[in-house]
Amino acid sequence: MAVLILSIETSCDETAAAVVKDGQEILSNIISSQVEFHKKYGGIVPEIASRKHIEMINPIIQEALDTAKVTFKDLDAVAVTHGPGLIGSLIVGLSAAKSIAYALNIPLIGVNHLEAHIYANFLISNFEYRISNIFPFLSLLVSGGHTMLVLVEGHRKYKVIGRTRDDAAGEAFDKVARFLNIGYPGGPIIDKMSKEGNPKAINFTRPMINDGFDFSFSGIKTAVVNHINKLSVVSCSPKGELLVNIVASFQQAIVDVLVTKTIRAAKQYNYKNIALAGGVSANSCLRANLEEKAKKEKLDVMIPPLVLCTDNAAMVGARAYYLLKEGKTSSFDLEAVANLRL
Ligand code: KG4
Ligand code: ZN
Repeated sequence: MAVLILSIETSCDETAAAVVKDGQEILSNIISSQVEFHKKYGGIVPEIASRKHIEMINPIIQEALDTAKVTFKDLDAVAVTHGPGLIGSLIVGLSAAKSIAYALNIPLIGVNHLEAHIYANFLISNFEYRISNIFPFLSLLVSGGHTMLVLVEGHRKYKVIGRTRDDAAGEAFDKVARFLNIGYPGGPIIDKMSKEGNPKAINFTRPMINDGFDFSFSGIKTAVVNHINKLSVVSCSPKGELLVNIVASFQQAIVDVLVTKTIRAAKQYNYKNIALAGGVSANSCLRANLEEKAKKEKLDVMIPPLVLCTDNAAMVGARAYYLLKEGKTSSFDLEAVANLRL
């Protein structure tokens, strides 16, 4: 019998719900972004995020069911992200999930958002082939709040070998975009603008590139700020070719650090599979560079489609499926944990 899981994700500024069949087939994956409401503040305003989640959660869940052509009665379990994330945002999804699970008398499954990002890789094509020999794999998890290299030896068997000591990769993208006044969130904007620029125009620093597996990105961000200040154009922001060259060079510096360390880690630990995860894995330069370098080293790279890289609920359903199979369901006193670790 097929297992149908309704999954809910509200850890940040996306209200999302999905129906996933057997941990692999996405029947629906509905995402409502709040970016329009936060944009003018240049970042997420937690209070606005919570309020918007409350407005959107029920219609989004209904849309997920309708799109999947199922009803509440068809569900086998309800999964929900319970951390890490914004506490007020998490509580909205968690309350909805608890109510549904309680009313239907079906299991509630609390999912770690970071694990969910990694499990987006369980939803990609070639499923049967990949899943049977997916472990072990090295995951580069890069999002707005986290940057880490994780050895994934099996379900619930993680070994974090590197993490950022300051800014997360996505945070660096967002902060640089904010400084340059080019919009929010910075990642997708810089990605798009960089296509017009020369990534070799400015040789920004690549901190710790050959040093261990931890990351440090705040230095690259500062290098961009210093570069702009030196140009003495603080009163009028750089534009045109100057601007696209700056962002392309900044992006290349971040990508070089991420790719170099990932490949080195795979070789050092003798891992043949690499899995990209998290919002920054939507970055076209990162995707292309990692694939190219991995190919040279005869490493296999899994890269989820864009919609599964940034926050979504299908990845939560994928993770939950394996928890359910292991009987690792949650009790109704499951709490939202803002700083939940992997
Ligand atoms: O995983 P995610 O959606 O939310 C968190 O869990 O943080 O990641 C959001 C981050 C933001 O910092 C955003 O700027 C970045 O992912 N991002 C990108 C791209 N798309 C999203 N960064 C670089 N290039 C992109 N195309
Ligand atoms: Zn995320």
